[in-house]
Amino acid sequence: MKILITENYDKMSETAFSFVKEIITEKPDAVLGLATGSTPIGLYALMVRDHEQNGTSYKGIKSVNLDEYVGLSADNEQSYAYFMNYHLFDKVDIDKNNTHLPCGTAEDKKAECRRYNELLKTLVPDVQILGIGSNGHIGFNEPGTEKDSVTHVVNLTENTIKDNSRLFDRIEDVPRQAFSMGIKNILASKKIIVMASGENKAKAVRAMIEGPVSSACPASFLREHNDVVVVVDKAAGKLIK
Ligand code: PGA
Repeated sequence: MKILITENYDKMSETAFSFVKEIITEKPDAVLGLATGSTPIGLYALMVRDHEQNGTSYKGIKSVNLDEYVGLSADNEQSYAYFMNYHLFDKVDIDKNNTHLPCGTAEDKKAECRRYNELLKTLVPDVQILGIGSNGHIGFNEPGTEKDSVTHVVNLTENTIKDNSRLFDRIEDVPRQAFSMGIKNILASKKIIVMASGENKAKAVRAMIEGPVSSACPASFLREHNDVVVVVDKAAGKLIK
């Protein structure tokens, strides 16, 4: 694991962007593994700015996202499909047919997990962007999720529901379940960039880097991958020895 501690959120975003830019410059048909949440918003803004100012094209780029809430359609403002369109896909020249997320409204959830797993066999990310939950989750792989897990339906923990409720009008509105890539899917990516910002992530970041490799902190499994870059701001990195 390579660990980069940056001054603040903006520098974290710039550092992550420099890796992404290198990959899409070298490989214009790269597969990007993307994440939602507050953490990558600055990265996506830099990708949009670079597209607008320097003409970096996403015409050949494909993307797969980590997760989606069960029950939310792509036009629901709280869905991750909506988030991705809003923050990135609508603002660059990517072909939407090449962007993929689990379908939140799939009627047959098991079939949807199978579909996504099959898709991930053909679309292996050249780089996977990850945030980390304050409980150490990656994607929606909550503590207790094993290393050999693939796309599955997750019952979100109270901790995650509480963390994510800041984006909803009422905590009751937060979906209780999500589709998520498993740890095995995530570890199949060629390169992984984990981003974290803010003091509320400091314990999870320490557990990921210094704690036991265990399902108690799903992010700790990333230590078994050979190309992981952890990019954190000072606050999120403050407990790293
Ligand atoms: P956040 O979420 O970026 O909104 O903090 C990260 C995560 O839960 O993986």
